[in-house]
Amino acid sequence: MGESPPSEQQGRSGGELTAVIGVVAVLATVMLGIAVAAYYGGQDSVSPTTVTSGGAGGTTNHAAVDPQVAAGAHAFVDFACAQCHGDRGEGGVDPHVPALQPIAPNLTVAQLTSIIQHGAGVVDNPKQPYMPVWGEVISKQQVAALVAYMKAGFPSVQYATPKPVPANQGDAVAGAALYSRYGCVNCHGPNGLGGVPNPQSPDGTIPPLSGSDFRTEFDTPAKIADVIRSGSVIGRAPIVSMPHWGGILSPTQIADLIAYIDTLK
Ligand code: HEC
Ligand code: HEC
Repeated sequence: MGESPPSEQQGRSGGELTAVIGVVAVLATVMLGIAVAAYYGGQDSVSPTTVTSGGAGGTTNHAAVDPQVAAGAHAFVDFACAQCHGDRGEGGVDPHVPALQPIAPNLTVAQLTSIIQHGAGVVDNPKQPYMPVWGEVISKQQVAALVAYMKAGFPSVQYATPKPVPANQGDAVAGAALYSRYGCVNCHGPNGLGGVPNPQSPDGTIPPLSGSDFRTEFDTPAKIADVIRSGSVIGRAPIVSMPHWGGILSPTQIADLIAYIDTLK
């Protein structure tokens, strides 16, 4: 029951031919450009200046990218900024989450850095998505890379695309992909093991999504769905809070995540 937005990349590295055949069978005309990109993208020897990839569904020529900007593009995907603010900050995900492309040029490096570290729009009982506090989760170097990427105008960077969500492989498989695609893993750890520091919070860490304490407190799918939808503000910056995912994640995606969490230790 996973969802697979059309902008997703099909396997580009290795097995291009298989991927191309499968893709063409589904979307013959549209995917022709991607097929060409898949062919060139699979050649390791091709220099980064000529490699092409699908970006937001089309084919784009990638110019050589400054390493810090490239790191920022990958961080923008890995920390799920793209899942709230849209692919390359284009917006269009949720009316409460601004597009960043038109905003970033008007903000200083210091302002952008501060918003990422301290969050924005956090209210006591969030009924809508807010900008999470990242200061304890994302390093200064990574924040600087994110800011450099935004200041560079959100260029398309090869392979900086969210993890695809397999359809028709079961809820738990889709949920595992979503756990990474939506950046849950950055805060709750691999396999929901927890342990990520949250120094100003009562527990000092972001809670695990596994283990007996979690299972006792969150003993029904409804309780888990509730906290995923609404988030949980346990204080203001610099405390890391559970983001509000209602409006960002569909009910189906939340059910997939719960199915995955159910499989954890
Ligand atoms: C859970 C959804 C969500 C995620 C994930 C998220 N943001 Fe945000 N972000 C928001 C919302 C909502 C706002 C608007 C907050 C407000 O001012 O009310 C915002 C605001 C911002 C702003 C300020 C825009 C302005 O209008 O001044 C920047 C810059 C920003 N986010 C960057 C990022 C970056 C970089 C990441 C990844 C590290 C990220 N966001 C991840 C929801 C999100
Ligand atoms: C920015 C860090 C961050 C991200 C990203 C994040 N969470 Fe959380 N999450 C938290 C924090 C902090 C809490 C604890 C809130 C509290 O104690 O009130 C929490 C609590 C939870 C809980 C309740 C567990 C408990 O013991 O309180 C669940 C379930 C959960 N998150 C699921 C998810 C899922 C699923 C995702 C991805 C869609 C996700 N979280 C992404 C920080 C995060």
